[in-house]
Amino acid sequence: MALITWNAEQHETKVAFADDEHKILFGKLNKLYDLATGGAERNEVGQALDDLIAYVVEHFAHEEKEMQAKNFSGYAAHKAEHDALVGICADLQEKFGKGEADVTEDTGALVKNWLDSHIPTFDRAYESTLNS
Ligand SMILES: [Fe+2]
Ligand SMILES: [Fe+2]
Repeated sequence: MALITWNAEQHETKVAFADDEHKILFGKLNKLYDLATGGAERNEVGQALDDLIAYVVEHFAHEEKEMQAKNFSGYAAHKAEHDALVGICADLQEKFGKGEADVTEDTGALVKNWLDSHIPTFDRAYESTLNS
């Protein structure tokens, strides 16, 4: 079963690029989770991890660019949230690369919970500014 399923009630921001990118992001997280918990080869898990993290970084940069372009007042707090997750991801990526950490059910739950909390609060908050 998929770790995370996009649904409008919980995740819709009504900002088209963000909703599109969140769906892609969820797909990449589900793929990583399925590989990691399904006994896939370590290098395959590593590739899916790299792919997910690269997309997270790209998505955050896209949101930050759009918020800055509209002088969104919540930009600094929003970027700080992004930076915190990127820091966690970079740490995991480094440890995974050294063989000091694995992608586990807890890893999946951490990212899922972060998204389930960040999107309805932080991402939804930029809707009126970005759509204006
Ligand atoms: Fe987002
Ligand atoms: Fe965000």
